[in-house]
Amino acid sequence: MEPEIEIHIPSVLDGQDIVRVAGSTPLFTAEEVGTVKEIWQEYIQQDDEEDPYLFLAAYHEGQLVGFTCFGHRSLTQSTYLLYWIAVENSLRNMGIGRKLLNDTEQIVKRMGGTQIVIETSDEPTYEPTRKFYTRLGYTEAGAIPDFYKAGEGLVIYFKDLNGLNIKNLSTP
Ligand SMILES: CC(C)(COP(=O)(O)OP(=O)(O)OC[C@H]1O[C@@H](n2cnc3c(N)ncnc32)[C@H](O)[C@@H]1OP(=O)(O)O)[C@@H](O)C(=O)NCCC(=O)NCCS
Repeated sequence: MEPEIEIHIPSVLDGQDIVRVAGSTPLFTAEEVGTVKEIWQEYIQQDDEEDPYLFLAAYHEGQLVGFTCFGHRSLTQSTYLLYWIAVENSLRNMGIGRKLLNDTEQIVKRMGGTQIVIETSDEPTYEPTRKFYTRLGYTEAGAIPDFYKAGEGLVIYFKDLNGLNIKNLSTP
């Protein structure tokens, strides 16, 4: 059974939990978790940025269990980037990532976004992540070998939001 999930914009007090969830995924290196922490700091301090970082979080029984970080891609009319998505490792494969990404798409669409672009790794360990994006309707748009380091390439996905109907978010 899918856990009851509420999704909303995190409060300024949620930073530690965002970092905890990022740290729970064995895929993320310490450097990547550190980057999530830095972006969160920028997020809570940003003031009138033209293209601010945005966060959305999923909660189960009041506990933060997943998040997305996304934002408008500067110098584009209406393309958004998904910078991060993570679900608490022990709660993966229970539909939380789908709800988070669906609601993120709804918010992007409401903000006038027409597409979302995602960059990820081509490593075998990221295969479940790539399957997740495909299941959510993302199309592979290109790949660059040895992008992250020798032997680890980049895979780019995108989703056109023009056909997406605006719905009620998971939690009003
Ligand atoms: C990728 C991630 C966010 C997905 O969230 P999740 O809650 O585990 O995924 P869901 O349970 O919502 O799955 C949604 C769909 O993706 C598919 N999917 C999820 N994990 C999968 C896996 N390991 N293998 C194959 N398909 C998978 C599911 O089958 C499901 O499809 P369905 O609803 O049609 O059956 C989560 O697993 C995660 O945090 N991974 C580690 C961090 C990461 O890779 N982040 C992205 C890089 S920034």
